[in-house]
Amino acid sequence: MKKIMVIHGPNLNLLGTREPEVYGYATLAEINHRIEQAAAKLGCEVRIAQYNGEGEIIAAIHAAAEWADGLIINPGAYTHYSYAIRDAISAVNLTVVEVHLSNIFAREDFRRNSVTAPVTDGVISGFGPTGYILALYSFF
Ligand code: DQA
Repeated sequence: MKKIMVIHGPNLNLLGTREPEVYGYATLAEINHRIEQAAAKLGCEVRIAQYNGEGEIIAAIHAAAEWADGLIINPGAYTHYSYAIRDAISAVNLTVVEVHLSNIFAREDFRRNSVTAPVTDGVISGFGPTGYILALYSFF
């Protein structure tokens, strides 16, 4: 059975009310429910967590390396400047898919660059919550 860790980064706990014109109306609980349903269909184990802190995300990446085969991560704004999260992804032997709800390449200049993307296996950006499901399917 494949084992996948899903990490949601900062401010994603506010989904549903946070800039819904950008991020949609689905809450994080609803998105997580969709991920769990897809995982059940695919027959894989999924664990999901959300952290606002950079250090917590790094610790979760290290911990995932102990049990998971793959990591799906939306690093939120850390995407654009966290070399520490980039290094954590590089340091572990996991297949990693970066997900963004919005299309970061169609937004403000500072969002167009991901410092984490080059050390991941792929990026899914702009498909809303479905991006997490596409990421899950990419492991099969
Ligand atoms: C985001 C895009 C980031 O630029 C932003 O800081 C987020 C969410 C997305 O999912 O579209 O917090 O990662």
